[in-house]
Amino acid sequence: MIRAIYPGSFDPVTYGHLDVIKRAAKMFDEITVCVLDNKAKTPLFSADERVKMLQDVTSDMPNVRVDSFSGLLIDYAARTGAHVSIRGLRAVTDFEYELQIAQTNKQLSHGSLDTVFLATSHEYSYLSSSAVKEIATFGGDISECVPDHIRKLVEEKYAYEHQ
Ligand code: PNS
Repeated sequence: MIRAIYPGSFDPVTYGHLDVIKRAAKMFDEITVCVLDNKAKTPLFSADERVKMLQDVTSDMPNVRVDSFSGLLIDYAARTGAHVSIRGLRAVTDFEYELQIAQTNKQLSHGSLDTVFLATSHEYSYLSSSAVKEIATFGGDISECVPDHIRKLVEEKYAYEHQ
């Protein structure tokens, strides 16, 4: 049984993340989407809120579970027995940063944690959680970026409803 983890901030989860989760769920026996609970950052949604949002949008995927972690990813992976970390690559601009993290995790875990990159489907290559928040800051339409349920929660945070 190959168990993989899909770490990230997911603040909030986007259609791009969902695309990666769906495709990874077909490749591995079990996927744990793990939300980084970084006390040094002030996210829009708390870790608990992000976990709940991810549980809601993956409820129809039987081999996907959701968890949160703080600290180093390699420690979380060791605790949960995962040897594969999944990350999406949107464009070449992601590559340098992602390669560095992948190599750091491999080195720090003494080879135990490897990273599998999934090329983001091209229709989502422009999408990021930061862009969603930027659009929402100005009351813009994020309906093509996130599932409807998530759109409502983001709009509530920014106290608007897009017409
Ligand atoms: O969605 P993001 O913010 O791009 O995800 C980044 C994440 C969570 C994958 C990365 O920041 C992470 O794994 N942080 C935990 C600390 C850690 O293990 N860092 C790796 C060594 S540099």
